[in-house]
Amino acid sequence: MSMDQIREGKAAIRAGDKVFFNPKMRKLRDMSVLFAKALGNKKARLLDCTAATGIRAIRYAKEAGIREITALDMNKSAYNSMRKNIAANKVKIKILNKSIQEFANTTAERFDIIDLDPFGTPSPHVFDILKIANNNAVLMVTATDTAVLCGAHEAACIKTYGSRPIHNELCKESGVRILLNFISRNAALFNFGIEPLLSVSDMHYMRVFVRLHAGAKEALASAKENGFATFCGNCRSFSYSKGIAPRLNEKCAYCSKSTEFYGPMWLGNLLSKEFIAGMLKLMKSPYEGQKELETIYNELDIPFFYSIPRITKSLNTTSVSPEKVRTALIKRKLSATRTQFDKDAIKISGSVEDVIKAVKASSV
Ligand SMILES: C[S@@+](CC[C@H](N)C(=O)[O-])C[C@H]1O[C@@H](n2cnc3c(N)ncnc32)[C@H](O)[C@@H]1O
Ligand SMILES: [Zn+2]
Repeated sequence: MSMDQIREGKAAIRAGDKVFFNPKMRKLRDMSVLFAKALGNKKARLLDCTAATGIRAIRYAKEAGIREITALDMNKSAYNSMRKNIAANKVKIKILNKSIQEFANTTAERFDIIDLDPFGTPSPHVFDILKIANNNAVLMVTATDTAVLCGAHEAACIKTYGSRPIHNELCKESGVRILLNFISRNAALFNFGIEPLLSVSDMHYMRVFVRLHAGAKEALASAKENGFATFCGNCRSFSYSKGIAPRLNEKCAYCSKSTEFYGPMWLGNLLSKEFIAGMLKLMKSPYEGQKELETIYNELDIPFFYSIPRITKSLNTTSVSPEKVRTALIKRKLSATRTQFDKDAIKISGSVEDVIKAVKASSV
């Protein structure tokens, strides 16, 4: 290549092409490549359906060793740019200048790994990628409409995802759970259940990695992992209920004030610890996303958490360090961890009452 290049991982792409490329998303691309590596199937058929410069497709080929890759982008300049990049990187990747919709409605091919990374919401594309997914396929889906998923625009979230979002300290986690609810509902239309392997919320994006399991039983089991959450704005306590007939508390169990309810959202697991352990083992240092992945790995995989500054504010007491509160909770034999969704919060296998006691014990 003679012109200026951008190097990332084992890929080098042309700089200056009029194609979308965000260098800040490197961390997420690194994580996706590591994820594909950890899947451990070089014979998997991978589709990068929003390829832009082709950087991901090239990295999946060169770094994860995936041999059968198709990259598509409906934008003509993107197609021209990825064509040149793929040739210069000397990788064999099939490229198409088509929209996801056109491709999914005309191809007879089926894929084992599908990367969807569009502008804003992935919602108009989820149905189409499910049409071309094999049983046990893994979908990697990015959403950058985080203001919508986090409840800054409640009506937009209801329109786009069919769920009422939460607009407080729980918003990032509930955003991820709303996205998973949307994917599981669409997957069920194709008789697929979903198994989240990894769910991430960072900077301006959310990204979920889910495995599909074919079968009516699997689809129904996933449907039952969805439900609603309630939240008390007075004491910051929450509850949730999933299954066929979710039951919600209209009054807070701790302070008896009225609660608000939100959803539907996915209330099952957000990840597979076993899978993430495999990713951590494969990780080569230095890896920018290492800390995040370790936090995710160590986090209790249960819905929601308590923001310590919000709790101290509602108690009208001085601030305490979340780590001190966590230690106090562990002393009382409760499981308590940090969370990727809020650096000042604690996830626990207990109630707001336990947290309040631990906060009080930590502030003396
Ligand atoms: C955010 S960029 C992808 C960035 C890329 N994954 C990366 O890591 O650099 C989104 C790309 O999706 C393409 N795109 C948007 N809607 C599409 C559709 N319906 N079908 C195919 N490509 C689409 C756009 O042209 C754009 O190049
Ligand atoms: Zn309350």
